[in-house]
Amino acid sequence: MMNTIKPISILNELKEATWPYHERLEKNMNLLSPGFLRTDYLRLIKAFWGYYGPLEARIAGVAELKAWLPDLDRRAKLTLLESDLRALGIDAEALAQLPICREIPDCTHPAAAFGCLYVLEGATLGGQVIIRHLHNALNLDAHNGAAFFTGYGEATGAMWQTFRLQLTAAGLDKTIQISSACETFMTLERWLKQNGCHAKLISDVTHRAVESQCCSPDGALRA
Ligand code: HEM
Repeated sequence: MMNTIKPISILNELKEATWPYHERLEKNMNLLSPGFLRTDYLRLIKAFWGYYGPLEARIAGVAELKAWLPDLDRRAKLTLLESDLRALGIDAEALAQLPICREIPDCTHPAAAFGCLYVLEGATLGGQVIIRHLHNALNLDAHNGAAFFTGYGEATGAMWQTFRLQLTAAGLDKTIQISSACETFMTLERWLKQNGCHAKLISDVTHRAVESQCCSPDGALRA
């Protein structure tokens, strides 16, 4: 059967469906506010580590994914978080004690994995804004605790474009991808909140996408 999906359509839909979550998360992470201190930053990085670890491991376990994403290994960011934690004084013993998120999206289906990756890869765009702020406000850079937010650095635009092309070319189920991307934002937000990194839960976001895509039994956030 011919693939009739227009090249840009899924990307537009992903952005439209998830942007309300993004706006909310960006605001409530508080990262760019003048009152955001080094202790807040360390708490945030610890929480990201507890979320990215299990999610990246689950994504890496989706065998079919590499056919569409040959550069998947290069995109893993857990090691960046670990180098940041080490730079900020967290040793191996302390790292082993950090909480790990259990409520991550069920992304064993390749389309769901793409939905999760859309969120994780998109976060590198915000990272380019965040790293400038972290440098100015907290004197952090890729070598002393902010490797995660530095991400791909100057290669960020190219990595994002490649990912967009790969996601589009795969042509996987749109509904699953969108639902999974929404669930990624929701579970991340909940985890940040549980770990004291977030002002509010996202539950009152009212957007067409929430009702049509993300409140399905598959996409719903478990209590
Ligand atoms: C202070 C925190 C953040 C800021 C300032 C920020 C900022 C941005 C900016 C400037 C863009 C580019 C928008 C565009 O070109 O249209 C972007 C895109 C994106 N961000 Fe963030 N971001 C933040 C946090 C996050 C987080 C924590 C995630 C997810 C873990 C995330 C996921 C995304 C995604 C998926 C996109 C791609 C949207 C698209 O074009 O399809 N962001 N962000």
